[in-house]
Amino acid sequence: MTRRPRRNRQSEVIRNMVQENNLTMNDFILPVFIVEGQNQRIEIASMPGVNRFSIDTLLEEINSCVELGIKAFAPFGAIPENLKDKMATESHNPEGLYVRAIREIKKNFPDVVLMTDVAMDPYSSDGHDGIVMNGEILNDETLEVLGKMALAQAQAGADIVGPSDMMDGRVGHIRKVLDVNGFQKVGIMSYTAKYASAFYGPFRDALDSAPKSGDKKTYQMNTANSREALIEAALDTEEGADYLMVKPALSYLDIIKLLRDNSNLPIAAYNISGEYAMVKAAAQKGWIDGEKAMVEILMSIKRAGADIILTYFAKEFAQYLRK
Ligand code: PBG
Repeated sequence: MTRRPRRNRQSEVIRNMVQENNLTMNDFILPVFIVEGQNQRIEIASMPGVNRFSIDTLLEEINSCVELGIKAFAPFGAIPENLKDKMATESHNPEGLYVRAIREIKKNFPDVVLMTDVAMDPYSSDGHDGIVMNGEILNDETLEVLGKMALAQAQAGADIVGPSDMMDGRVGHIRKVLDVNGFQKVGIMSYTAKYASAFYGPFRDALDSAPKSGDKKTYQMNTANSREALIEAALDTEEGADYLMVKPALSYLDIIKLLRDNSNLPIAAYNISGEYAMVKAAAQKGWIDGEKAMVEILMSIKRAGADIILTYFAKEFAQYLRK
């Protein structure tokens, strides 16, 4: 045998030398959950190790994450039920929980990058990402709300807005609203290929944002499709997206690769709540080594072609890197 691939695996130094992909803290965005109140730090039952913070404790948490090397955060707000309505009005209230939190974070941590969530569901009494009328999700009417929401977030200091709703034309509409109002520097990370996934469950628990009726299949993508992701990617690019995102990550590594091979924009992947919960649950039962599984999963997302990974593991991974 002249070719023996094992030669390049024989010692740790050699293995490291020929390693093709690496993860650094530059790759991560940590999603964080915010609730009303003070001194709150409530663990999410289906997401061990992930908490819902009030603004005061969130600032402490961000401080400890920044010390660990995390540079970017994606906040999500849990909005009290009595403030939800059909039009998600609370989403663009400048004094609302979410917009206030963005302002506070930016005031305390000006160098931290904040990627905000643009979608109606946390504020919608229907639990949908669009306006519901006679059981239908209205597209163009929803764009108006998304534009107002993105603007309120930009005014509060968002660096990047992340439309996660899957309405048609949202990226172009948001770009226009931001530009007309002088926010040319605010970026758009589009949830380009967002699939109608079963793995969002723990996130909807965290925000109490599950749809009150029906499912999200008229706007989120069919899990059987990949060419459709290219249609979405082409539209988002044309409409001015600065980053394309694939969500979820693990069942869609092929889609990450597909977008990587077909776009020159940075590609992000969202390693979502259910993907996190599976690892934690199995690790708690002693069925897998949770830390090794985390590293392997994050590496697989990077290897598939993601430049940026949104993951609830970001803090644990930072701690692992320090060991
Ligand atoms: C919807 C939204 C979802 C997530 C973030 N924003 C999915 C959904 O409820 O349809 C999921 C994130 C996760 O599961 O970690 N705007």
